[in-house]
Amino acid sequence: MKFAVITFGCQMNVHDSQWLARAMRARGWEEVPEAEAEVFILNTCSVREKPEQKVYSCLGRLAPLIGRAPGRFAAVGGCVAQQVGRGFFERFPFVRLVFGADGVARAPKALDELARDPRARVSLLDFLPGYEEREQALPPAEVTAGEATAVSAFVNIMQGCDNFCTYCIVPFVRGRQKSRAPSEVLAECRALAARGVREITLLGQNVNAFGLDGQGQGVSFAALLDQVAGLPGLSRLRFTTSHPKDLAPEVVEAFARHENLCPQLHLPLQAGSDAVLKRMGRRYDRARYLSLVRDLRSARPDLALTTDLIVGFPGETEEDFGQTLEMMETVRFAGAFSFKYCDRPGTAAERMEPKVDAAQAGERLARLQNLQDRITEGYLGEQVGREVTVLVEGPSRRQDGAGAGAMGRDAWGRVVN
Ligand code: SAH
Ligand code: SF4
Ligand code: F3S
Repeated sequence: MKFAVITFGCQMNVHDSQWLARAMRARGWEEVPEAEAEVFILNTCSVREKPEQKVYSCLGRLAPLIGRAPGRFAAVGGCVAQQVGRGFFERFPFVRLVFGADGVARAPKALDELARDPRARVSLLDFLPGYEEREQALPPAEVTAGEATAVSAFVNIMQGCDNFCTYCIVPFVRGRQKSRAPSEVLAECRALAARGVREITLLGQNVNAFGLDGQGQGVSFAALLDQVAGLPGLSRLRFTTSHPKDLAPEVVEAFARHENLCPQLHLPLQAGSDAVLKRMGRRYDRARYLSLVRDLRSARPDLALTTDLIVGFPGETEEDFGQTLEMMETVRFAGAFSFKYCDRPGTAAERMEPKVDAAQAGERLARLQNLQDRITEGYLGEQVGREVTVLVEGPSRRQDGAGAGAMGRDAWGRVVN
């Protein structure tokens, strides 16, 4: 069968999609551009309203393409699939497979079955008690079409999240935290390095809590990091995402200990006011965050810190918001992803009052983004004239024609064209 994968959401989804495409190719399926596909696999994100809406509009766009052409169908996986489940079968009759976070591992087999039996429908929505290992985890030794970044790879170290930040739907759609066996993580990293992968990013919703669920064979995240960093041939190691409450001193010190641990950390702050952080259920305050930043920068003075910020959380006052701006000025993030708060079904914040007026939240977001633009500009200005080593991932999309260049990243995670 000819298939196309359409991905929304975070790096965990990107990684799941890459794996799924590889598993289907290994089963003899052919990955093609969307216009030529018979089977469409959507990997979806539910973290905010916008990405969720994109899923419905994408299915609407695909409907005429799939039409009544025999044999054609769609599969919906990921976080919206977990949330809506079999509801997709009713709304979009051409959807014949739904699979959630823990269903990914069994999706390739299900897709094969559906291709053979045109009347069947399958749902894989159960959460499993532990991390399920998957078939064909490795990319092929040679660079293949659609996978230009064979020098850089993601490796899952866990699934799910136990934090229940009050605004967040992830724990509901991704399930409880389940650490992967460190021996499996190491085996995959070792095999990737042997295939020429030079950069590995360890992935999880809260990597610093690795093992705290009792499933990590007694290995802490810091210890896992030490083991992976020590693998021969691995020149760059990164990890994401970190929660400030779980970032252990041993992990902070790892930035001084390992030369191949890249000087880059994504450390979501979310808000700068202690009152808002408390209502968000984040379990740290400004002082804790600032002391972490100090420790991190003393371990690695050139560390590039990036963050996530939410404006307009229920009850956020102008003064609370001012404290977020103040934190941004103090920390001087190299970059920030910022979002307007939106209600997500089933979360605690959905029931919190008062909601911030949408126009006011929009105005705050614009002010915040202006400030970050200025900070980012200053930060990038300091880089002018510096020489950096870039790990080339593939041809640059910014340039074409004669003299087209390459695209890669420096150790600080900055894209260089
Ligand atoms: N596990 C990661 C990422 C979670 S989702 C972490 O803990 O940092 C990515 C980002 O989406 C979050 O950091 C948060 O800033 C944002 N986000 C999550 N739920 C949201 C909501 N209901 N409204 C607006 N932004 C939200
Ligand atoms: Fe969501 Fe919080 Fe878990 Fe991140 S740590 S995925 S924001 S509940
Ligand atoms: Fe989105 Fe699910 Fe990732 S909700 S951010 S795809 S964990």
